Amino acid sequence: MAKAGQTEPIEALLKEGRKFPPSKDFVKQAQVKSASIYKDAGGDLVRFWEKQAKRLRWMRPWKKALEWKLPYAKWFVGGKLNVSDNCLDRHVEGPHKNKAAFIWEGEPGDSRVLTYRDLWREVNRFASALSKHGVKKGDAVTIYMPMIPELPIAMLACARIGAPHSVVFGGFSPESLSDRINDCKSRIVITSDGGYRRGGTVPLKKNTDGALKACSFVSTVIVYRRTGQEIAWQDGRDVWWHDFIKTGDAYIKPEPMDAEDMLYLLYTSGSTGKPKGIIHTTGGYLTGITATHRMIFDLREDDVYWCTADIGWVTGHSYIVYGPLANGATSVMYEGTPDYPDKDRFWRIVEKYGVTILYTAPTAIRTFVRWGEQFPNRCDLSSLRLLGTVGEPINPEAWVWYWQVIGRRKCPIVDTWWQTETGQILITPLPGITVAKPGSATRPFPGVSADVVNDKGESVDAGYLVLKKPWPAMLRGIYGDPERFVKQYWSQVPGVYFTGDGAKRDEDGYFWLLGRIDDVMNISGHRVSTMEVESALVDHPAVAEAAVIGRTHDIKGQAIAAFVTIKSSVTATDPLKDEIKAHVAKKIGALARPDDVIYAAELPKTRSGKIMRRLLRDVAEGRALGDTTTLADPAVVADLKQKYEDAE
Ligand code: PRX
Repeated sequence: MAKAGQTEPIEALLKEGRKFPPSKDFVKQAQVKSASIYKDAGGDLVRFWEKQAKRLRWMRPWKKALEWKLPYAKWFVGGKLNVSDNCLDRHVEGPHKNKAAFIWEGEPGDSRVLTYRDLWREVNRFASALSKHGVKKGDAVTIYMPMIPELPIAMLACARIGAPHSVVFGGFSPESLSDRINDCKSRIVITSDGGYRRGGTVPLKKNTDGALKACSFVSTVIVYRRTGQEIAWQDGRDVWWHDFIKTGDAYIKPEPMDAEDMLYLLYTSGSTGKPKGIIHTTGGYLTGITATHRMIFDLREDDVYWCTADIGWVTGHSYIVYGPLANGATSVMYEGTPDYPDKDRFWRIVEKYGVTILYTAPTAIRTFVRWGEQFPNRCDLSSLRLLGTVGEPINPEAWVWYWQVIGRRKCPIVDTWWQTETGQILITPLPGITVAKPGSATRPFPGVSADVVNDKGESVDAGYLVLKKPWPAMLRGIYGDPERFVKQYWSQVPGVYFTGDGAKRDEDGYFWLLGRIDDVMNISGHRVSTMEVESALVDHPAVAEAAVIGRTHDIKGQAIAAFVTIKSSVTATDPLKDEIKAHVAKKIGALARPDDVIYAAELPKTRSGKIMRRLLRDVAEGRALGDTTTLADPAVVADLKQKYEDAE
């Protein structure tokens, strides 16, 4: 695929002709029935978003809906609101008071239901305790927890007192955690002793202890007891959640937040080794996710909505916590893996709670395809009425399987494209209107202006996906690094937001996403930077130099292939490969463990010393080698190709 800066067009080989209109029954009851919404919103996008913002509760109305000084947008300027007030108090004061907010299921099979009132009560106590502990508006708080209700409780408590949270995915290593704590300098960390996963436990407190060796400024670690496993304890720093929460009052007034005050930071991988702290603010973010959640998932009062993501990723922030709660929805939340105790766990959960809307990832769907139909077929999935996917392009075969086997040919599928940076879904079907084509995320959401362009910014059929106008939930920057913000997103094509994704557009104006065009890999729907893995590799004492690429993988979408040269004093053995893989997993997290480690005598480099990843991709994908004329030594890559083929 072409890289930004090169002229060759992106090749899009896939042709998919099947079309799937929504059923008449679905259309009849749909939230959004008329395609005029696209025209109306396109005509005046500010008015469209203002209309959506008015569905929220504002403490003070905004003066100006949009102030756009490229690359900085301010939405709902002068307005004040509080996210926890919108997600909780607003519902508790009305008929939703005792409606289930979360139906939670732990991996061992334990279960809890928290009504809006329950959640409100817990959030108030915890927020008040944080406040009494000295946490103030603007103080960052790191949260490193399993998928238990206390995770959203902690987030909402932070939002209530105006303390931006930084949630770190529980699968990350101590080192990744300490990098993130160090970047935002949070003095408070909220964690648990552990969490359940695939029948075992994840040692979150132990990881936290490891991380904090490099973060001496952390003064308080609040620990929720989930598993009861043995943990180390540091008196004066560590405090149990159940003791801490007792210090809080029953009620604390939600802090009036400026629409542009920070709600949270979320770290994501970019094309350099250092994760970026993506800044999301309050008013525009809540507006964007609430509107998209309601319209795209066709939300109804009696829906049981289940997004299977982990809250540690943006999908969980926007579409498990803030969007569904602001909309007063009932959500299912599950702690563990889909194959515990058996490969039908997801379908048992759908049956048990009567899930109506299921939002999951293509990598999970491909895994289900591989496991076979017998697992979903032995459960009653008749409650389902709408399906969604997110995280990576979905291959049409997986889409059709999802539609037939899980949706029983009656549920529309919404393939939703967005990013940590965009905060909200931007390209997606509207299920009551859109004729779906498997593999296409279809069209920009109303009020969203997307285009496919070349390096000069001219519209083309296949090229780079860009966003031309601001949208309310867009990132407001990279924490502590305004230059990187401009360079990364606003410089490749002047005047527009550069997504880093390739895309093509078909004759109906549908968008087909073609994956990343930068040095970011998409492993099971999660972003991992090649540089990050490379620096973990060279950190191993045996490794001299490393180059990493993402190669196609049936289940994960992409798998990591690491080409390494080892130091002359070391012998290249298979056990060393395993050791190197384990080293990367330890440094970053299991997600980043390379599938392949390939020993190379030398890495293919240009005469100026730049590693030619394109050729490594050819090698790993078993393709004929592309142009090798710019290589300093063309023999290097031929040799590698041979080695790779021998190893397979
Ligand atoms: O490459 C796109 C892919 O995931 C990237 C964003 O990753 P992240 O920030 O981790 O957020 C994932 C969840 C929103 C995008 O740049 N991506 C996400 N959704 C889709 C997708 N690619 C194709 N189709 C999608 N529906």
